Amino acid sequence: MIPVDLAADQARLRELIDTFATLSEPDSGPGVTRLAYTPLERRAHAVFADRMSALGLTVHSDAAGNTIAELPGDDPALPAIGTGSHLDSVPNAGSYDGIVGVCGAMEAARLLVEHRVRHRHPVRFVVFAAEEGARFGQACTGSRIAAGLTGADDLPGKHDANGVSLAEAMASVALDPAAVHSARWAPADWAAFVELHIEQGGVLEAAGARIGVVDLISGSTRFRLELTGRASHSGGTPMHLRADAVTAAAEVVLLIEALANDEHNEGTRATVGKIEVAPGSMTTIAGAATLWVDVRGTDTDRQRRTAREIVAKAEEICARRGIGLRTEHLADTPPVRLPAEVRDGLAAACRMLGLEPRVLPSGASHDAQQINHVTPTGMIFVPSRDGISHDPAEWTSIADIALGTTALTASLLRLDGRLP
Ligand code: GLV
Ligand code: MN
Ligand code: MN
Repeated sequence: MIPVDLAADQARLRELIDTFATLSEPDSGPGVTRLAYTPLERRAHAVFADRMSALGLTVHSDAAGNTIAELPGDDPALPAIGTGSHLDSVPNAGSYDGIVGVCGAMEAARLLVEHRVRHRHPVRFVVFAAEEGARFGQACTGSRIAAGLTGADDLPGKHDANGVSLAEAMASVALDPAAVHSARWAPADWAAFVELHIEQGGVLEAAGARIGVVDLISGSTRFRLELTGRASHSGGTPMHLRADAVTAAAEVVLLIEALANDEHNEGTRATVGKIEVAPGSMTTIAGAATLWVDVRGTDTDRQRRTAREIVAKAEEICARRGIGLRTEHLADTPPVRLPAEVRDGLAAACRMLGLEPRVLPSGASHDAQQINHVTPTGMIFVPSRDGISHDPAEWTSIADIALGTTALTASLLRLDGRLP
């Protein structure tokens, strides 16, 4: 049994979560807006760095903007055990996605330090930069750089809605995109990595389970469809003489839904979460429509096949309607099955707390998915109320977050060989 005094403290976790929630773009509407590679994301990392330094940990930030705090172990020759998550958000987010894993890591660090818990391995507490794909299309930039899955050559080619490239955004917050190779993690330097996160779905809640461990993390294929029609007067142009980009876009959106619902694509989720129409006037037929498409899957072939089918069928629709179509590939991350030995260890740590964890797949992407290319990773999930995430209504009880944090702390000690 984990010693009672290693139970996470709810009031401390609440204070941390509330502190990060105050760091949001002014005038950005409801919820938290703290996008990747912005001064606000860096401020959040600075809060983490300050708090970890105050605890006596050694903190550094790498060229990708990841912030890493280290607690030395009794045997400096051993590779590190890591935990952490991210502090950036989508626009108008809640206050839990990513934040819970960082606050859980901070509380775990405090428990280990204040109770002078001996451990053999160094333990590293990590905040990854730019996990959300909302700004640049590509998710998990900081952890992908650490895993060697993205490098300096890719950063100038990915842009946000204002045409700012990933490389420019990094430089604007005093990071050096040309030096990101130095942020790469060496496998020999790591023993394992565990991420605590909210579920962002409704499986745990529906099952009445307070904790879960993840067996598989979904992948995503993302692209932009740019439809070009002919702008013209909405009153003067008869219906049969139109090349309306919006009606074509509407047909494409419904096609995407139908393909994801097709029994051959079971488990696939496809979303058009953003549409832009130009010129965007009520009295002008749309001359252009741009759709951002996110195809998520638990099977690599099915995920990519669905994406290809969407593009092929969109070409047919546009050709029939006299609309031009250009496709721009944004990102492709395959699903990842997490190693059973880490998962079984996390489950054993949960059972020590008297909890039977639910084993479940993750529908969302995570830094742990990328880091699994460097070192074996595992994930602990806590429930999301009504399964909602990427919205201000996102919520997880502080009691469940504390339970997840205690399970995380026990998992770190178990990986260190301190607990059976
Ligand atoms: C990350 O939050 C994702 O979009 O899966
Ligand atoms: Mn997240
Ligand atoms: Mn997210």
